Amino acid sequence: MAKEKVLVTRKIPQAGIELLRAQDYDLVIGGDEPMPRAELLRAFAGQDAILCLLHDAIDEEAIEAANGVRVFSNLAVGFNNIDTEACKAHGIRVTNTPDVLTDATADLAWTLLLATARRVVECDKFMREGNYHGWGPLMLLGADVTGQTIGIIGAGRIGRVVAERAKGFRMRILYHDEIAQPHVGEWEKEMGAQHVSLDTLLAESDFVTVHCPLIPETTHLIGAPELKKMKKSAILINDARGPIIDEAALVEALKNGEIAGAGLDVFENEPEMAPGLAELENTVLLPHLGSATHNTRDDMATLAANNLIAVLNGEEPPAPVV
Ligand code: DGY
Repeated sequence: MAKEKVLVTRKIPQAGIELLRAQDYDLVIGGDEPMPRAELLRAFAGQDAILCLLHDAIDEEAIEAANGVRVFSNLAVGFNNIDTEACKAHGIRVTNTPDVLTDATADLAWTLLLATARRVVECDKFMREGNYHGWGPLMLLGADVTGQTIGIIGAGRIGRVVAERAKGFRMRILYHDEIAQPHVGEWEKEMGAQHVSLDTLLAESDFVTVHCPLIPETTHLIGAPELKKMKKSAILINDARGPIIDEAALVEALKNGEIAGAGLDVFENEPEMAPGLAELENTVLLPHLGSATHNTRDDMATLAANNLIAVLNGEEPPAPVV
């Protein structure tokens, strides 16, 4: 019998590769960079299973190119790069990597929050440029975090863990979630978190942090009108997906002092940034690192490989999307 053909579109941690190599697949692994679109579509032909990444757009054209594929196993919790409805219509399974990256991604949101509040990047630059000539009572003052109000948009796995960390900072916790979450009741009580409208969250929070999925309803959820509703002293954090925030509007709001700062790990048109963003000192900018720890990426690769193997074995994958 011919071996099943499996494509991994780009190099992933060895933990996942070893699991795939232990199967008797005809395995092709991409290089260090994302495959250019034309190459990707060519490579899709004849595959039984594809392990893809968040920069691989799995749309109708890609599904057509992958005629006969049984699963797209996405190495990410977010699956906005995949047309799941089209996959479903073609009988193709889609899987993702939830849970294993929750802590790392929540930790990175906190990294951004603290770094932006206390101007860590700006201060580091100040030191490296030799500007420190002695302690000063008015030097590089930042924003308080402890005891302030945090507004969490999206009370999914990551948003809820962000709230747990906020409890340690004795913060008032507000959250807004359009989708009723089954576990939120218990969590809400435990955290002393309060569900509010988006407008209330924006108006009352010192820190607004975005943790909802990118779906049509959340695209530009935070645009010019929403930014105007925030406190002038507020800081906006996003390590979910870039297009949830209208980045051009954010640049304007930061320039005009409508809000105080932003910590961003994701961008509307990655890897590009909106013009003007990189020139603003009141931002901390990271290259999409939410899940980028050694252990987390190993766990993601393991889960993505196990999802793929399960589907090829005719079993239910551990983390199905459709
Ligand atoms: C995800 O899993 O969706 C992350 O953005 C990858 O780091």
